Order: sequence, then structure tokens, then C-alpha cells
Amino acid sequence: GKVAVLMGGPSAEREISLLSGNAVLAALRSQGVDAHAFDPAERPVWALAEEGFNRAFITLHGRFGEDGTVQGALQVMKIPFTGSGVMASAIAMDKWRTKLVWLAAGVPTPAYRMLVPGCDYASVIDELGLPLIIKPAREGSSLGVTKVRNAAEFAAAFEAAHRLDPLVIAEQFVSGQEMTAAVLGDKALPLVRIEPLKGEYDYQNKYFTDDVRYHCPAGIAPEIEEAIQSDALKAFQVLGCRGWGRADLILREDGSYSFLEMNTAPGMTGHSLVPMAARTAGLGFEQLCLDILEQASL
Ligand code: DAL
Ligand code: MG
Repeated sequence: GKVAVLMGGPSAEREISLLSGNAVLAALRSQGVDAHAFDPAERPVWALAEEGFNRAFITLHGRFGEDGTVQGALQVMKIPFTGSGVMASAIAMDKWRTKLVWLAAGVPTPAYRMLVPGCDYASVIDELGLPLIIKPAREGSSLGVTKVRNAAEFAAAFEAAHRLDPLVIAEQFVSGQEMTAAVLGDKALPLVRIEPLKGEYDYQNKYFTDDVRYHCPAGIAPEIEEAIQSDALKAFQVLGCRGWGRADLILREDGSYSFLEMNTAPGMTGHSLVPMAARTAGLGFEQLCLDILEQASL
């Protein structure tokens, strides 16, 4: 049947979503799938039913697509879709509520404070220490994220996050190696270790420079890798995620680690991490896309 690759959308990550979506579209077509691009920012999502689509591959990032809204519409239209359902998508989009679930379930995640306009910066710094991270609760690709090194930087960092989302969190900075754990079905793929050569692993370096070195295999102790993979699966499952996803984390020098967030429609661009992890597991990009599509459900 006809497959819609949902891409673009109105979120701040639109540009990245188009990169992901076009990569997936080309891969599916190369495997003989009758796949078509569909941008919910350009056409109402209801057109999917009228145009006879049987399944949807979701490569929308951020709000209005990765957050359960489009998933709900697809469910109403009875069009099976890739990845997580309404509830898991909605919780995972929200880093605050994700933390609440993880803390309750014993998944390690950095200490945090909610920030509201006019809140007492000094008490937040007192509690979390410096540096700390300020981020919008419901954004992706590091948009609106600032590392605050001293009290003077706090107000501007809060404003930058608050412009994107009224829900803002401050998070304890965890010093260590940035890593990611891709999940496909009920398995965690090999970990990817991220080594920024210049600056931070931010929006620009995530997609548009060659200033990041990626290691997969990650080259860490096998028992630590296994522990992280097992906790990544737990992090995925307690949120109710399904199909595929990617948990981002920091590994400290002492072998302990903290999960930062769960992505339910992770990037599939040429610089993206799930395709790297899949490749190390012996799964090429085309097969990865087919496997994700295979698990589409209502
Ligand atoms: N939010 C971006 C697309 C990612 O997690 O890969
Ligand atoms: Mg994210």
C-alpha cells in the first residue's frame, strides 16, 4: 500500500525534519516501497485518509508531530504509524514529565528545577551548582539550550529558552562523555559516543559541521555498555515507547551515567545517530527504514 513519509511540519526543527524525511523517503523508494512525502504544514493531515495512504512513517521532529498530536490524528483515521503512540510521544516531548516518570522508575537523570519568570536564580544556582544547563522542556536539537557558567548568564539563558517554550527547566551539569542509545523494537543498539572537537554538541555541530567525531562502537567497558543499554530499554519502556527511539545520556568518569531525554522520532539525517548505531549492528540505512516501517501500528 501507499506509505506517507511525514516530514517538515511547523516546529522549530522543521529544517532537520525535512533532511530526515527525505533520507527516509529515498531509502524506502529504493526498496520498492510506494512512499510519498507529506508535509503537515502544507496540507491538513486529514488528506492522508482521502488520498488512500495505508501507513505513515513519522519523521516529524519536535512539537506538532513528535509529541502525540499527529499520532492521535493518525489513530483516529486508523492509519498505522511508526514509533510511539500518543501518550509516550507526549510525555517524551516534555523533558520535565519524562524526568518525573524516570525518577519514579529509578532511571538515573540529572537533578533539575522548574523555572518560572521572576524565579529566584540564586536559590537554583545554590541547589544545582555551576555550570548548569537551561533548556526549554519541549524542544529538540539543542534549540534554546544554554550552558550557564556564572550567575550573570542566567537571565539571558532563561529568556532564550522561554521564548521557545513557557516550560523551562534548569538541569545540573553532568561532566562526562555524551552518548546515545538507540532502541529498535525491544533491543538497544550499540552505543554511540559523541566527541565534539570544537565547542559543544549544539544545533550547528549536530547537523552542519564536521567538528564532531562519532565513535560506534563506543569503546567503553562492555559491562558499562550493557548496563546503559539495559537502562535505556527501561527508560524507553517506562515511558510506554514502542517501535524505535533514542535515549541521550552522559557517562561520567566513574562509570555512572544520567539520562537526559528520550527522542521518539529521532533524526535520520546524514549526521544522525540512530543510523550510525544501526550500521554498527549490521543494519544498513535502507534495512533500518524497512524495519521501522514494519513495526508501524495503531
Ligand atoms: N531532535 C533531533 C531530531 C534528534 O533527536 O535527533
Ligand atoms: Mg531531543
